[in-house]
Amino acid sequence: MRTVRATRYALALREGGSLPGLVEADDLGFYVVKFRGAGQGALALVAELVAGEIGRRLGLAVPELVFVDVDPVLGRNDPDAEIRHLLKASVGLNLGLDYLPGSIMFDRQAGDTASPEIASMAVWFDAFVQNVDRTARNPNLLVWHRTLHFIDQGAALYFHHNWQTAASKAESAFPEVAKHLLLPWASTIPEAAAQARSLLHADVLRDILARVPDAWIESEQRTAQERRNDYLDYLMRRLAASAHFEEEAIRSHDRLL
Ligand SMILES: Nc1ncnc2c1ncn2[C@@H]1O[C@H](COP(=O)(O)OP(=O)(O)OP(=O)(O)O)[C@@H](O)[C@H]1O
Ligand SMILES: [Mg+2]
Repeated sequence: MRTVRATRYALALREGGSLPGLVEADDLGFYVVKFRGAGQGALALVAELVAGEIGRRLGLAVPELVFVDVDPVLGRNDPDAEIRHLLKASVGLNLGLDYLPGSIMFDRQAGDTASPEIASMAVWFDAFVQNVDRTARNPNLLVWHRTLHFIDQGAALYFHHNWQTAASKAESAFPEVAKHLLLPWASTIPEAAAQARSLLHADVLRDILARVPDAWIESEQRTAQERRNDYLDYLMRRLAASAHFEEEAIRSHDRLL
């Protein structure tokens, strides 16, 4: 992954709770930045990175992810105190998504649709990473150049907020899939599942986890490398138990017919 340096805080994107911002960087690109100093903390960035890269490995379009280095002078004179505090608490590495200019949010009422292949893979993906934020109310799915782009994976992998109870969640069927906004088009889940299982294996997941900066995951109890192994164990167990959430997703889809 590339690292860019933030040169200008351009705009606050106030839709969600995490206060992402549109930032210009030293490569002259614009990025939607998730800040480490925001309410949900660094774990939301871990979810965005790990789940986002898993989605990309599954063939879904996820905007390029980059590390965004924030230095102490960025936004120092911003008129908004909340933004100044956020940037001050985020000095160092943050996570940026390539900004897709002119993209619009997926809207079924406006006639947007998805192919069975993409919809089925998206359903499998979100069930695997346990992302509840892909609903009609909160689509987190951008249409750009006629392609569906998956953004905002920050709520995925929620088990990492409580490792004590994580073990019991790896095999969950993810009934929340019933509200997935692409479920109506997901008519080929068995094929998507077979493809997903052939694409994701331990080496792929290990490679993705290796990119997570130490500072985002280390704690007094666990070193960064121990924590990466915890994630790997969890994800491998979820993969081994994928029949549970695949069957649930197929049942939920059939119920819509
Ligand atoms: N890569 C992108 N290109 C263009 N617009 C984007 C991009 N990423 C996000 N946006 C816009 O910014 C909004 C907020 O981004 P995002 O959904 O990632 O965060 P959020 O919803 O504020 O987070 P949360 O609700 O989880 O706190 C999106 O709804 C979308 O309109
Ligand atoms: Mg969002």
